[in-house]
Amino acid sequence: MFKPALKTKTEQLSSTLYLAEFKLVEPVHSKPLPLQFTNIWIPGVDEIPMSIADYEEEKQVLRIIFKVVGEGTRSLRDRSGFFGVKGFLGNGFKTRGHDRILFVAGGSGIAPLPLLTRYCTIDNCIVDVVWGVKSSDMLFNIEKVALNPGSVYYATEDCSYGFCGMVPQVLQYIIEKEGVKWSTIIAVGPKPMLKSICSTIDPSIEVYVSLETMVKCGLGACGSCVLKPLPKLLCIHGPVFKCNEVNEFLESTHD
Ligand SMILES: Cc1cc2nc3c(=O)[nH]c(=O)nc-3n(C[C@H](O)[C@H](O)[C@H](O)COP(=O)(O)OP(=O)(O)OC[C@H]3O[C@@H](n4cnc5c(N)ncnc54)[C@H](O)[C@@H]3O)c2cc1C
Ligand code: FES
Repeated sequence: MFKPALKTKTEQLSSTLYLAEFKLVEPVHSKPLPLQFTNIWIPGVDEIPMSIADYEEEKQVLRIIFKVVGEGTRSLRDRSGFFGVKGFLGNGFKTRGHDRILFVAGGSGIAPLPLLTRYCTIDNCIVDVVWGVKSSDMLFNIEKVALNPGSVYYATEDCSYGFCGMVPQVLQYIIEKEGVKWSTIIAVGPKPMLKSICSTIDPSIEVYVSLETMVKCGLGACGSCVLKPLPKLLCIHGPVFKCNEVNEFLESTHD
C-alpha cells in the first residue's frame, strides 16, 4: 500500500514553511493531478496527509511543502532515510479547459501551487496567485517553486509586505481593481477563509475550494474525514469541491 520513498532534500522556504523532496524507488505508473494528496508514513510515528506540491514523472520525484505543527511534521522536517507514500489520493483538479485561474492561498495553502503551474504549462492556462500570511517572514518568492506563474499578489495581515489585510478582503479588492478576468478561482486555506470567499465572490466566477479535515486511512474506509453534516468523505469525494457542494460544511462549527 505504501511505496518506499527516500528523502533526498529538506529546505527551509520561510520562517514557517519547509519543502521536502522524495525519490520514489519503485516504478509508479500514474501521476498525480493538482490538489491530490498523499499520506506520508513516518516510521514509528504516524501517517499524515500532505498535498502533493510537485511531481516530476520522469524522475519519480515528489515534493511537499509543509508547516511544522506536531510530531509528524517535525519528523518530516528532521528525519532522513526512508518514508512511505500512499496514493495519489483524492479527486484533484483538471486544468484542461480553464484559461486563467486565480489561485488563492492562505498560509500553507500555497503548497499545491507548483503542480498546478506544471499542468498549466502543458494545458496553456495562466495561474495568477493571491497568497496571504500573517507576516512577511512567512512568505517566500513563489517563483522559486512554481513554473511561469502569472501575476502574484502577496498579502500580510500585519501589513509588513504587499497588500494589507486578510485574504478574502484582499481578494475582493484585487477583483474590483483588475476587473473580473478570471473564470475560475481555486482557494486553499483555513476553513473561515474558504467560507468567506464562497459567500462573497461574484457568482459569475466558478469557485473551487480544497478542504482539510482529519484524514486517517485516505481510502474511504475509516470514516474519519466525513464532512459533517454532509454525507461526503474528503478523501474520496474531495479534497476539491465547488462552493455550493460544501456550503453546509463550511457553515458548520465541526472541523
Ligand atoms: C488533504 C490534506 C492535505 C494537507 N496538505 C498539507 C500541506 O500540503 N502542507 C501542510 O503543511 N499541511 C497539510 N495538511 C495538514 C497536515 O496533514 C497536518 O498539519 C499534519 O497531519 C499534522 O500532523 P502532526 O503530527 O505534525 O501534528 P499533530 O500532532 O497530529 O497535530 C497538531 C495539531 O494540528 C491539528 N491537526 C492535525 N491534522 C489536522 C488536519 N488535517 N486539519 C486540521 N487540524 C489538524 C491537531 O488537531 C493538533 O491540534 C493537509 C491536510 C489534509 C487533510
Ligand atoms: S480518511 Fe478514512 S475514510 Fe477518509
